[in-house]
Formats: sequence, C-alpha cells, structure tokens
Amino acid sequence: MLSWSLGRVPFATRLAGRIFSDPMRYATGKPLERWLMLIDLASRKLVFANDPKVVETVMLDRAGQFPKSAVVHDLLKPLIGGGVFGQPGGASVKETRRIFSRSLATIPDEEVRRVTEAITADYLDRWLAAPGGQVAISEELSRLTVDIVSHCTLGDRFDADQSLRFTRLFFAFHRKAAPLVLMLAGQDERARARVMRDMGIEEIGGEMRALMRERFVTPLINGDRPLETAPFALALAEAGRLEPGLAGEEALLDEIAVMLLAGHETTASTLSWLSYELAGRPELQDATAAALAGRTEGEGFWGAADPDSIADALAREALRIYPPIGFFLREAQEDIVFRTKPVPAGSFVLVAPWTLHRHQKLWWRPDDFSPRRWLEGGPAPARTSYMPFGMGARGCPGARFADIEMAAILRGLLARARLTLVPGTRPKPLGNLTSRPDKEIMLRLSERSRT
Ligand code: HEM
Repeated sequence: MLSWSLGRVPFATRLAGRIFSDPMRYATGKPLERWLMLIDLASRKLVFANDPKVVETVMLDRAGQFPKSAVVHDLLKPLIGGGVFGQPGGASVKETRRIFSRSLATIPDEEVRRVTEAITADYLDRWLAAPGGQVAISEELSRLTVDIVSHCTLGDRFDADQSLRFTRLFFAFHRKAAPLVLMLAGQDERARARVMRDMGIEEIGGEMRALMRERFVTPLINGDRPLETAPFALALAEAGRLEPGLAGEEALLDEIAVMLLAGHETTASTLSWLSYELAGRPELQDATAAALAGRTEGEGFWGAADPDSIADALAREALRIYPPIGFFLREAQEDIVFRTKPVPAGSFVLVAPWTLHRHQKLWWRPDDFSPRRWLEGGPAPARTSYMPFGMGARGCPGARFADIEMAAILRGLLARARLTLVPGTRPKPLGNLTSRPDKEIMLRLSERSRT
C-alpha cells in the first residue's frame, strides 16, 4: 500500500516515505537538518520544523493552534479508542490529563522504586536461567515495564501468557501501523477507512483490548477487585468518569489502555537501546556496573560521579539518541508564516525529537553515545533541542515515574548481569509509532562476578 501510494506522488513525498520507513538512516545530515522544509503531499503540505522559534511556536506559544493530528487518533483508535493520547486537545483533554497526573502523584516515588526492584529481580532470575543465557531483551523489557506500570497504577499484572501475548501483539501492531499512508489518504472518510482496514491493525487492537478488559477492567467493574486497589481507576471514579453501563466501561478501558501503552512502550524502548549500547561496550558496561554499586572510589570512567547521576546520565543519553516518541505530528488550524514561508491551514506540522536530538548544529558530536555529556559541568541543551518527554500542554505526565523506574531497572540489571551481544543482531529503530527496535535484540546474560 505504501509503495502504491508513493508511486503516485512527487519526489519530495517519496523522500518523506523513505524517512518514515527508515528514520535511522535518513534522520541525520542533509536535508532533514534544514531549519524548515515544506513537502507537498498529495492533498496538503507537510512542514518539517527544526527551527527553534518554529518549534516553540508549535509546541508552546501557540500550541492551541497546532493540535495533535487526526492521523494520530485514527492510527491509535483500534487500541485506545477515545483515550486522551489520541485526542487533539481542548478542555476535556486538560481535565483528563489532570486525572492522569493526580493518580500518578498519589503513588510515592519509593513505591515505584520498590515495585520496580522486586519485579526486576523476578525477571532477572528467569533471564539468568534461560538456555544459553540468551534473552530477547526488547520483548522481555516490554513485559517487565507493562507489569510495573500496571502493578503501580492498577494494582494487578497480566499472567505470564497474557503478558507475552500482549507484547507480541503490540509489536505486530507497530510493524503494520503506517502514519504516512494515512497522511496520504486525504480527508475522504471512506478512503481513510479502507486504508485502516488494509493495514490490518484493527483486529490486533481488538485482541489487545480484550486482554486489558479481561485482566483489568472487568474485575473492577464487577466489584471483584475494589477500586481502592487501583489508584488510576479510583482517580477516574472520583472525577465522575466511571459512568454505569457499557459506555462507562469502554471509557475506562480507553484510558487504561493509554496508561499501559504510553507507560510501558517508552521505557521498554529506551532501556532496550541502552542495553544494546552497553552490551556493545563491555568496558563502559563494567565501569558503570562498578560505579552504580559504589565500588570505584571516585576513579575510572565515571570519576567522582554518584550512582544517581550516572544512572540519570545513561538514561538521558539513551533518550537523546533513541527518543521513543521520535515524531510529534500536529496540524495547523490557521494560515501562518514560518521563516517567510506561507503555511496554509490544514498542513501537517512535524516536530521530530529524533532529528533535533542529533542535529549537527545543536549538539557536540551528536552521533556519539556519550553519557558523560550529561554530568555536572556539561553544557545544558537549548530547550527545543532536547524533548524526549515532549513539551507544553501535551508533555508526558509520567516523566518522573519513568525516571525512577528506568534507574531502578538499570541498577538491578547491571548489579547481577553482564550483557553481551549475540552476533547477527543489527536492529534499527522501527519509527512507525515509536522508535522501538525493528527486530528482537538478542543478548546473552551471564552472572556478573563481583571481582
Ligand atoms: C522513557 C519514558 C517515557 C517517554 C520518553 C515518554 C514520552 C512521552 C511523550 C513525548 C508524550 C507526548 C506525546 C505527544 O506530544 O504527542 C507522552 C505522553 C504521555 N505519556 Fe509518556 N513517556 C514516557 C513514560 C511514561 C510513563 C512511565 C507513563 C505513565 C506511567 C507515561 C504516560 C503518558 C501519558 C498518559 C501520555 C499522554 C498525555 C496526553 O495525551 O496529553 N509516559 N509521553
């Protein structure tokens, strides 16, 4: 379908197609580093913005005029229905976001850390006992992070079969979901519906929703599990969002789907790439394991940095090079001029952390994986050149949760395991919905000796 569509549109559109289908390869260097690029799609313009002023206009100053694109809604609808993540904006989005933030704020940091450490320890037991020590780390990190976010926000977890099924289905969804195809389909409802059907993601989304409904929604609705055990469902109920009947149940499922999907895929993707980078750099990995365990006495690669700063620097650098949400797709509500170029209302506007985080003019040695750049004394990036958690009215409400969780997983992992690359694994970022690896990252995990 993608190649069919692209065969009928001009060169710039084919370039856009290549960018979308292989973002890693095309996301750095010319021409994507231009401050502003206008591409003619079949029915409207696509504006690609790196200019800090334009980025600020779109994401902050006039964010209300640049709501999330309907493409985001349509693409995610099979999974999250009318859930907040796919909604363009407005008062109801503001109110729903408040519920997310309020419920996350009721979970103490210490609780997130404790749950993460306990569940990570269970996973490590299993990983270290795997035949030949081989672990599909991206899949396993997805299972781990979905368990952590569901335990903390809903008080329950999938069983082992369900979690495997859920993460595999989501991977399949990712592979098939193609934003550009939907962008090219134009405004005609029937054409868009056909494109969605052809992608084959509706069935996958339906199966994932059935799993979430069975495990999390039905027991809460039936009263088999008290709402008090599920902080997020409780916050929705307290805000009057748990209306009786099928519509109320669907609305609960929609927002639970947002929490579970936004809250696990992102951390799993970041940690998958970080594990991959560390597995490919044994010396950095060993120095990090020793420093995180407080065994270096101020010497070696990390110098006098404390363990919290080290874990933070690693996560920030992984989020810089592999921002899980690599593209923010917005739509201009009115005519506007960017850098003297007229942009008509209805144009797509793309702000891409993927490109901004690797931009030659914004970063020193942007393609190097260099976590030490984040230690004290290093230059702070300009605010529009680093935004893994988004910014402004639609920024991530789970950033703090994610920071604590990722640091705890990293510390648990490196305390017990040495990670080695399994030859033959050369993953690339998928780039459709998130930057998760396009194929399983296989690593060998062995017990880390303390000597
Ligand atoms: C490394 C981890 C994470 C990253 C990089 C990340 C990044 C983001 C970004 C960039 C957005 C905004 C997308 C946009 O503007 O189009 C977002 C939204 C969101 N995130 Fe996160 N996130 C992470 C972890 C989490 C966690 C752990 C949770 C929950 C516990 C969470 C919950 C949400 C929710 C509910 C939204 C939707 C907000 C809305 O629709 O306005 N995220 N995230």
